[in-house]
Amino acid sequence: MKALVLSGGTGTRLRPFTHTGAKQLIPVANKPILFYVLEDIKECDITDVGIIVGHTKDEVKNAVKDGSKFGLKVTYIEQDKPAGLAHAVKTAKDFLKDDEFVMYLGDNILKNGIKDLYLDYKNSNYDALISLCHVPNPQQFGVAEMEGDKVIRLVEKPKEPKTDLALVGVYFFNSTIFDAISKLKPSWRNELEITEAIQGLIDTNHSVHAKIVAGWWKDTGKPEDLLEVNQLVLMDLKSSLKGKIEQNVNIIGNIDIGKNTIIKEGTRIRGPVIIGDNCTIGPNTYVGPYTSIGDNTTIIGGEIECSIIIGETHINCGKRIIDSLIGKNSIIGSIKEQLPESGYKLIIGENCTISL
Ligand code: DAU
Repeated sequence: MKALVLSGGTGTRLRPFTHTGAKQLIPVANKPILFYVLEDIKECDITDVGIIVGHTKDEVKNAVKDGSKFGLKVTYIEQDKPAGLAHAVKTAKDFLKDDEFVMYLGDNILKNGIKDLYLDYKNSNYDALISLCHVPNPQQFGVAEMEGDKVIRLVEKPKEPKTDLALVGVYFFNSTIFDAISKLKPSWRNELEITEAIQGLIDTNHSVHAKIVAGWWKDTGKPEDLLEVNQLVLMDLKSSLKGKIEQNVNIIGNIDIGKNTIIKEGTRIRGPVIIGDNCTIGPNTYVGPYTSIGDNTTIIGGEIECSIIIGETHINCGKRIIDSLIGKNSIIGSIKEQLPESGYKLIIGENCTISL
């Protein structure tokens, strides 16, 4: 069996981060989402992986390289435009040939990985196995209608969903999917929809089965999803100390501190918190639960909680920062540092949210 990972697309809902980078490489608990996907695939003993890349291909290739650090053999497949998930599968035909494969969306993350789904599919003769999850906002996903454990209808982002069963971004197929894709027409959002291709399999009496995923699942399409998934992943954080903690520092809960990182005196950290390499935190700083701080970051004073700092960032504003997603190479200073202009001095990209 092969794997096809989708790491193209535009990532419009995650702007400004996706103006300059791939959404699949945004870190959760200091690890890119795409890396969780690749690790899940490796757990299934699948080694032959095709990665669909678009305009962010250089960044993705630079992060994953030939895949050997994950124990995988990676082939990059360029999709000329983000014309839909089914278009991506079609683009990968030369790589997939007639083999069975798992398609895994590179911005999805599942608590329990995909091993159970893989074993179910491997030990069956299904043409397709899809995975589903109960969600409060089904209109934002593909939605399934079931009769027992049989899927009878799938609709992509319905205005009035008939169920709360969302299609998770992990699908197992054999080569019959190519026939179904060849009959597709572009949808209302001008994409070739995999949801419609699977409906085509159902309509032509192919065996399409579904399994509800155990544990949480998240599509990290929006900043609030990333913050939520960061919390969920950090709940399982184990403590590890590779850096240095000065005297008079108060630490509660599980904390992972990277190499050459210094926690300066008077600082309080309440886990779960992960701090990368070469960071300086403090003096007299508070880092609260569910915070991920990327490499080469300095935080002097103030408080931060429930946030993701991607890295290479300097914060010295003396304020309380919560529920925030802070991009690379950011500087958050204090108004005192900016005198004599005595006004807020901001250098902000497009689509930013700032509450002053
Ligand atoms: O996350 C689950 C949902 O994923 C399903 O419930 C939906 O049925 C399915 O259509 C899909 O919906 P999204 O609108 O969330 O898909 P998105 O455009 O975000 O693309 C998912 C991933 O695939 C993302 O990593 C980008 C990549 N992609 C997307 C397109 C459209 C490609 O590589 N090429 C593409 O052409």
